[in-house]
Amino acid sequence: MAELFGDLNPPPRLLMGPGPVGVDPRVLRAMSMPMLGQFDPAFTAYMNETMELLRQLYRTKNRWSFLVDGTARAGIEAILVSLITPGDKVLVPNFGRFGFLLAEIAQRCRADVVTLDREWGTVFTPDEIETAIKKHKPRVLALVHGDTSTTMAQPLKDIGDICRRHDVIFYVDATATLGGMNVAVDDWKLDAVSAGLQKCLSGPPGSSPITINDRVVDVVKARRHIEAGIRPDDFVEGNAPIIQSNYFDLGMLMDYWGESRLNHHTEATSMLYAAREAVRLVLAEGLDNCFARHRLASEAMTSGLTAMGLELFGDQKNKMANVTGVVIPANVDGEAVRSMMLHDFGIEIGTSFGPLRGKIWRIGTMGYVCRKENVLVCLSALETCLRHCGFRSQAGAGTDAALAVYRDAEVPVKKAAIS
Ligand SMILES: Cc1ncc(COP(=O)(O)O)c(C=O)c1O
Repeated sequence: MAELFGDLNPPPRLLMGPGPVGVDPRVLRAMSMPMLGQFDPAFTAYMNETMELLRQLYRTKNRWSFLVDGTARAGIEAILVSLITPGDKVLVPNFGRFGFLLAEIAQRCRADVVTLDREWGTVFTPDEIETAIKKHKPRVLALVHGDTSTTMAQPLKDIGDICRRHDVIFYVDATATLGGMNVAVDDWKLDAVSAGLQKCLSGPPGSSPITINDRVVDVVKARRHIEAGIRPDDFVEGNAPIIQSNYFDLGMLMDYWGESRLNHHTEATSMLYAAREAVRLVLAEGLDNCFARHRLASEAMTSGLTAMGLELFGDQKNKMANVTGVVIPANVDGEAVRSMMLHDFGIEIGTSFGPLRGKIWRIGTMGYVCRKENVLVCLSALETCLRHCGFRSQAGAGTDAALAVYRDAEVPVKKAAIS
C-alpha cells in the first residue's frame, strides 16, 4: 500500500529571521473561512474592501490598489513586465540581493538595464541617484525600500521628486517594509509599489499587494489586450506593444478587479481572506503605532546585542526597523549557533548570502512576532548558544539592556490590537 505519511504537524517555531514570520492567528482563522464563487457579490464585496484597506495601508488615493496572486515577486514581475517595453532603459540602484532581483526581472522583460552598485550595508544619497538618472536617462527607476539581505532601508522621500523632474517612472519594492515602516505612496510620489504579506503584515507568503498611479495606468492602458476567449465584442486594443505575460498583465488584472469583472484568473480565495484580515489588523492597530512598535523592538534588540558585546552590521542610521544584522564573532561557527537556536530553543534566526555569507546573522522582529517577550527570549537564547559556541558575554546583559529599553519607553502601542 502506498505510504500516507503522518499528520501535517509542523514543530512550533518562533520565526525571527528575515521572513516569513509567524502568522497572526486571526489571519489563519480568516483563511479557514468557506470558499465563495469569485463573482459572488459577497466575494466581490470583499475584493472591493481589500482595495480600500490597501489604499489606507499604502497611504494613497490610487484607485488601482489590489492583490497579485503569488509571492512578493509576483507583484514585482506584474509591475515590471507591464511597465517595460523591450528596449526600455531601467535604472536599478542596487544595495543588496533584491536589487539584483529587480535587475534580473527587468532583464527578462528585455529592458536595457543599468545598475548602480553600492557596498552592502550602505544606501544611496538622492544626489547619487539624480546624477545617475541624468547620465543614463532611464524610463523606469526600480528601487528596493528595505533590503532584508543587508538590513538597510533606502530613504525614499526625495527620490519621487527627482523622478518627476526627469520624467522617470518610479517603482519601489516594499516587500520587507510595508506595515513596519512608513511607505507614503502619494506624499513621496511613488508611481508603483509592490509587497508581500509574510513580513510586517503577519500573513503567509502567497499574495502580493500592489498599488499603481495614473502614470503607470496610462502605460498599461496603451498596451491593452484581452485574451480571445473572454474578449468583449466592443474591445479596442491598445496601440503600444502587448504585455509579455498573460498572468501578470496588469491591464487584465485591472479589468478583473474593476467593474467589468473580466473572468481572467480564479482569485486565490483563501489568500484574499488572509490579505484582507492582515491589512485590517495593521490598520486597526494604527499605522503609526505599528511603525513605533517595530522601531521600539529594533532599539531593544540592538541595545541587547550591543550589551552582549556583539557588533551590529551596516550603517545604523539607515537600518530597517524590522531586521537587525549582527556580525558573527571571530572564531564562532555561525551555523552551529543557528542550529542550536533552532533545535534547542525553537527559534529561527536568519543566515546571509552573497558577500555577507557566513559573516552576519539577520534577526527579524516583524509583524506578529515583533513583541517584547520575543525580543527577550531571543536574546536570552542567543546568549546561551553563543556561550556553548565559545563566545562569552556578561550573563543577562543582553536581556537587561533590552528590558531597560522597553521599561524606559512610553510604549505607544495599542496593546489590545496585538495581544
Ligand atoms: C525586499 C524583498 N523583495 C522581494 C522578496 C521576494 O519575495 P518572495 O520570496 O515572497 O517572492 C523579498 C523576500 O524576502 C524581499 O525581502
